[in-house]
Amino acid sequence: MAFTKKTVRDVDVEGKRIIMRVDFNVPLDENQNVTDDTRVRAAIPTIKYLKEHGAGIVLMSHLGRPKGDGFEPELSLKPAAEKLAELTGYEVKFVDDTYGDKAAEAVAAVKPGDILVLENVRFLKAEKKNDPEVAKKLASYGDIFVLDAFGTAHRAQGSVVGPAAHIPAVAGFLLEKEVDTLTSIFSEPERPFVAIVGGSKVSSKIGVLDHLIDAADTIIIGGGMAYTFFLAKGYKTVGTSLKEEDWVERAAEMLKKAEDKGVKILLPVDNVVTDDFAENNVIETVPSDQIPEDRMGMDIGPKTEALYAEAIKGAKTVFWNGPMGVFEKDAFAHGTEVVARAVADSDCTSIIGGGDSVAAINKFGLADKMSWISTGGGASMELVEGKALPGVEALLDA
Ligand code: 3PG
Repeated sequence: MAFTKKTVRDVDVEGKRIIMRVDFNVPLDENQNVTDDTRVRAAIPTIKYLKEHGAGIVLMSHLGRPKGDGFEPELSLKPAAEKLAELTGYEVKFVDDTYGDKAAEAVAAVKPGDILVLENVRFLKAEKKNDPEVAKKLASYGDIFVLDAFGTAHRAQGSVVGPAAHIPAVAGFLLEKEVDTLTSIFSEPERPFVAIVGGSKVSSKIGVLDHLIDAADTIIIGGGMAYTFFLAKGYKTVGTSLKEEDWVERAAEMLKKAEDKGVKILLPVDNVVTDDFAENNVIETVPSDQIPEDRMGMDIGPKTEALYAEAIKGAKTVFWNGPMGVFEKDAFAHGTEVVARAVADSDCTSIIGGGDSVAAINKFGLADKMSWISTGGGASMELVEGKALPGVEALLDA
C-alpha cells in the first residue's frame, strides 16, 4: 500500500466545516477564461463527496506566482470558482479576500453543503514563507483540513502544510490517487516496466533516472538530454546539439549503475538534425555517433522510433516523463508522437508524469488512452525521485 495517510473517508465530516487546499493553478487567457480545466475537474470527486456527506466547504488555492503585495486582477481565483460552478452545477460562492474580515465573515456564513472559494492565497507574501500566523488564520476557517492539491504538495507553504499543525488534516481523493499511483511503480510494478525519460536536461532529471534505475527493467532516453549521454558513451561530438558538459560524468555513472543492475538503457541510434534552430534550412537524419559539427539534434530518428516502439509494445507498466524532441515544432514532433502512440496502443498501465509529456499527449489527442495523467509537474517529479512531499508528510497517519 503506497498511501499511508488518513483520507476524507477516515473522518466524520457531517456538519463540519472543511478548509480544503486545492490546486486551481490553471491557465487563463487574456479575457480571464480558463483554457485548461483539468485541475478543477480533478478536485471535483472530493468536493462532491464532502458536500454529499453534509460538510460545508471552504476552498483555497494559489494561481500563478503573484508578487505577494496584494491583489493582482489577472491572477484572481474568481474564474476558477466560476469554472467549478459550471462543471458541477453547484452554487459556488466566491469572496475577494483571503485573510481579512471579509473572508472570515464569508467563512462563518458557510453552512453544510455550501461551497465557498477564497481569493488567491499568494496575494500575501507570508503564505509562501509558511508564516505561523497564516497557518493559524487558515486553520481557523475549518474544523478539518483537507489537502487535495497534489500539484502543490511539494511546497512547504502556509496553505499546504500550515493548518495541519492546528486541526486534523487528511487527504482528498486526488492526492491519494496521485501518490498511490506514482509510488506504486516503485513498489509493485507489473513487469516489464519501461520508463521513458526525455526533456532537455540531464541535470534536471538525474534524480528521476537514479531512482528509476532501481525499479525499471528498461529505460528509454530521448530529448536534448540524450546528447549528454552520447558524450558519456564516448562519441566524439554531438555537433551544436544541447549538451551539459558538467553532467557527462554523472550520465556515465547512470549508464554504469544501470549496467550493474541489469537494467537496459536505450539511447537514440539515429537523430533528426538541423543546421539552425530558428531557420531549419536543412533537416536530415544521421546516426548518433556521426552528428556533423554544424548540426543540431532536434528529434529521434526513424530507426530509434522503431526500437522504442518495440520496447514499449512489450511493456506491462510504462512511466513517461519528457518529450523525445522539440515536439512544439511540427517538423520535430514525429518521434514524440510515435512514442505516445506506442504507449496508447500498448496493453500496459501507462502513467504520465506531468509537464511537457502531458502537453504532447494532448497535442496528439491521446489523453483518454492513458491510465493516469498526473496533475502535478514538480510534485510528480519529486515523488519519482523518491522524495517525500511536505504536504503529504503533514497529514495524519492512517
Ligand atoms: C504547478 O503548477 O506546478 C503547481 O501549481 C505549483 O506551482 P508553483 O510552481 O508556482 O508553486
